[in-house]
Amino acid sequence: MERLQVAVQEARERRARLTEADPRTRTPALGPEPETPVSPWGKLSSVTPPRRRLLRGRIFLNARAPGGVAIDLLRTRLLKLMASNGWKRVMITSPNSGCGKTNVCANLAMALSRRPEGRAVLIDLDVFRPSLAGTLGLNPTTGVADVLTGRVAPSDQMVSIGGNLAVCASRSAHPEDANVLKTRKAREVLDEIERDFAPDIMLFDAPPFFGTDAVIAASDMVDCVVIVGASGESSIDQLDRTESDLSQYTNIAGIVLNKCRYLAGDSDAAYPQ
Ligand SMILES: Nc1ncnc2c1ncn2[C@@H]1O[C@H](COP(=O)(O)OP(=O)(O)OP(=O)(O)O)[C@@H](O)[C@H]1O
Ligand SMILES: [Mg+2]
Repeated sequence: MERLQVAVQEARERRARLTEADPRTRTPALGPEPETPVSPWGKLSSVTPPRRRLLRGRIFLNARAPGGVAIDLLRTRLLKLMASNGWKRVMITSPNSGCGKTNVCANLAMALSRRPEGRAVLIDLDVFRPSLAGTLGLNPTTGVADVLTGRVAPSDQMVSIGGNLAVCASRSAHPEDANVLKTRKAREVLDEIERDFAPDIMLFDAPPFFGTDAVIAASDMVDCVVIVGASGESSIDQLDRTESDLSQYTNIAGIVLNKCRYLAGDSDAAYPQ
């Protein structure tokens, strides 16, 4: 009987040792749960740009208008070019002011937000004449420079349109903020936005190329640029100079001719119906 009790005791001790050594049967140590990263998209307030504001600013609501088809084509070509080169960030500039940079940028962003999948970030880098907020009917209480200097967290400043377009826009012009574009902090914040929001494309509305050093300063923060020329306003020489100067600093994704009055004969506005 005594031997039997000893054997039972030994078996208990052996089982206790085995349980201790096997991590699958060990009771987890009490303590804080491991943190799961929270997507910053969920923190953004969601806005719906007023339809009338969009129409007034020549922002197409869909691809049915002939101009809307051109924007969808630009979106898809740009996405393919950028994906094939591994590019994420594209800056939109023009030789001079008023060529339609903001219009092309806002139209592209809205066309990107109509995709069933994929996420985009739109940032107004035009500290001289920020007009994305007005074009899209947004009312930011702080500006892009507040984000790029780290004063305001991106997720507190940006808003979401359609759940897959995050917009960082400014309320008013601050030319003195042009120097913010030259700082390491601005680069770090953009890297943080790219990492946390995980967009497949980031669009930057920029000032005109001529007149300041802002576009060259920002050119190494992006992977490529689109140059917008205005039909009847931009000369071939201005477009050439903008392209050749900028190509020293970044990739040229293409040139868009805006404000064309006549459509190419191969568009078929009646299809599909
Ligand atoms: N395709 C177009 N057809 C007709 N008008 C247009 C077109 N694109 C833009 N515009 C008009 O031209 C003006 C300038 O457009 P926009 O603000 O987009 O240009 P910009 O290049 O961003 O100007 P800025 O240099 O001041 O930032 C606006 O009044 C806009 O409505
Ligand atoms: Mg503009």
